[in-house]
Amino acid sequence: MAVGIFDSGLGGLTVLDAVSKRLPDVPFVYLGDSANAPYGVRDADDVYNLTKASVERLWEAGCDLVILACNTASAAALRRMQEQGIPPGKRVLGVFVPLIEALTEREWGDNSPPREVDVKHVALFATPATVASRAFQRELAFRAIGVDVEAQACGGVVDAIEDGDEILAEAMVRSHVEALMRKMPKPEAAILGCTHYPLMEKHFQAALGADVKVYSQADLVAQSLANYLERHPNMIGEGADRLFLTTGDPAAVSNRATQFLRRKIAFEAA
Ligand code: DGL
Repeated sequence: MAVGIFDSGLGGLTVLDAVSKRLPDVPFVYLGDSANAPYGVRDADDVYNLTKASVERLWEAGCDLVILACNTASAAALRRMQEQGIPPGKRVLGVFVPLIEALTEREWGDNSPPREVDVKHVALFATPATVASRAFQRELAFRAIGVDVEAQACGGVVDAIEDGDEILAEAMVRSHVEALMRKMPKPEAAILGCTHYPLMEKHFQAALGADVKVYSQADLVAQSLANYLERHPNMIGEGADRLFLTTGDPAAVSNRATQFLRRKIAFEAA
């Protein structure tokens, strides 16, 4: 039994890298739904149905615990999956809560009532579907009061990254940051609310300026998963294979992933 990491495509590899570094003994099975990516321009029903099918595939592969390493899936599908009922012994976790706990300086799982926090103006960069869901604002409201969130739907950035066009991705990041700063000239913190954006972190930071604290998810998710597994060691087992599964063309996805992470990765058909 391994731990499953799900993303719409390759972006979740940033999370996989961080969790593998933090938990080197845990076998991870990665599933990227590249045949159906990008999710960020799909409606909520679509994202829900696709996410559910992929999570079920990871359960089948022996992963009782699945991390939705995709903000769009976490935003549009996680709550609905939990409401519809997760089978006994299985668990699905998203990527918003660790990020919000870091932003609001809360310990893991601190469910005390919302309180005032230091940061007052937060810029959120995410896919159109994540922004439309308002899931980030909803989760934040459970934990903090008086925080103004300005969200920028960063259309096109994921496609440019998946296509390996860093110059286009950088130009788009700059124009999305400018658009955000027209609405909120002085954010104190910026959330990179999409698994692809850590690859563009230095461009976000350069466009935002050095005064803005940029929160990127991978390490926060890794820390939070380590805490979770310490409390629930039964959610990992022994002897499982590490696998990279894709719904897309394994050869093409492997090439792209190798370019993406700058190390060799071999995907097989999901
Ligand atoms: N990886 C997804 C996320 O974190 C975005 C990619 C997509 O649009 O499919 O939101």
